Amino acid sequence: MIYLDHHASTPVDPHVVAAMLPWMTTDFGNPHSHTHAVGRRAAQACDDAIESIATRIGGRPDSIVITSGATESNNLAIWGVLSHPRQRRRHVITVATEHPAVLEPVIGLAEQGFRVTVLPVRQQGDPACGQVDLDALRDAIDDHTALVSIMWANNEIGTLQPIRELAEIAHAAGALFHTDATQALGRVPVDCLAAEVDLLSGSAHKFYGPKGVGFLHVGGGARRVRLRPLFRGGGQQRGLRGGTVNSPGLIGMATALQICTDDLPAMSERLRTLRDELWRRMGESFPGIELNGPTLDPGLRLVDNLNVSPLDVEGETLMAAAPELAISSGAACSSVDPRPSHVLTAIGLSESRARRSLRFGLGRGTTADEIDSAVGMLRAAYGRLTGQATA
Ligand SMILES: Cc1ncc(COP(=O)(O)O)c(C=O)c1O
Repeated sequence: MIYLDHHASTPVDPHVVAAMLPWMTTDFGNPHSHTHAVGRRAAQACDDAIESIATRIGGRPDSIVITSGATESNNLAIWGVLSHPRQRRRHVITVATEHPAVLEPVIGLAEQGFRVTVLPVRQQGDPACGQVDLDALRDAIDDHTALVSIMWANNEIGTLQPIRELAEIAHAAGALFHTDATQALGRVPVDCLAAEVDLLSGSAHKFYGPKGVGFLHVGGGARRVRLRPLFRGGGQQRGLRGGTVNSPGLIGMATALQICTDDLPAMSERLRTLRDELWRRMGESFPGIELNGPTLDPGLRLVDNLNVSPLDVEGETLMAAAPELAISSGAACSSVDPRPSHVLTAIGLSESRARRSLRFGLGRGTTADEIDSAVGMLRAAYGRLTGQATA
């Protein structure tokens, strides 16, 4: 199997597994038990892990809330800000290309009578396709806006947003700024406080950590962030998220982020070379192939992302004919949804082109041979389906 679907999930690094194991077996204590050494040891390890995460994201340890993943973090950020009893503002702004883990909570707020603005993005053909136009945000924001939520990097077309500029516009109107950094963490440098982000979501399984654990960085900068918890319980995590912290998951997440950030410059260069080679080879094999999303400029697009629409066969059909290749068409979590990707239609692609799309997400284990084999598999699959040989 050739796995090129690292935007959906990544394998857990063996060092991460090794770092987690003791906290499930010998040192299994509840990190909230302060009456004995077993608990205190776990608490210390969790504190160290949180400290390490804070360093890697340019944040503060006392601003981090451990969650079950980015879906929970996004819900906590969005619901938490808008439904706080002292929140007077009732308007939220987001973007059409966000992940459902942002769009759905925002839809939930609209159902409850909050005002919602969903901004469009730059269209296909624009080098910065998928980015939000700064003036569009300036026009939409007003003194009723409580929160602007815009993802750092897109999970389908890899667009990188100008986060700091967007946050500045939010702050000028007195609103808070949230970013879903799920696809950015471990892939591009993330400096939460330097970018003036008030709330930042992350998820370990996207950067070679375990599934079911993530975090939300809350405040820590110039602005006060009032958050109403989603879960109440034993008052853990400063009352912001009741429930025992997943200590092995947290320790694994910190280790995974450390490995990714230490390796980031070299890994980015390697993946960019491989991704560019994949694009070149796909272009040779499928003349007329279309690139979906921004140009391959590393300032505009994740270096490990490629999204293309080759020829006249639906992405799902081509993938089914190449069962040894793990890629996707649209987002993994919506692969049961028969509609074309909302991201691709939001950048102006026709339904037909969106349905023909293939998304590749390269990862740290990807090799040049795998790129070669992946292209070969797609060529063979296309040939079987159409009876035509590709170039
Ligand atoms: C941009 C983005 N946000 C949120 C999520 C949801 O993350 P989790 O699986 O941790 O809930 C994903 C996962 O696909 C994602 O890509």
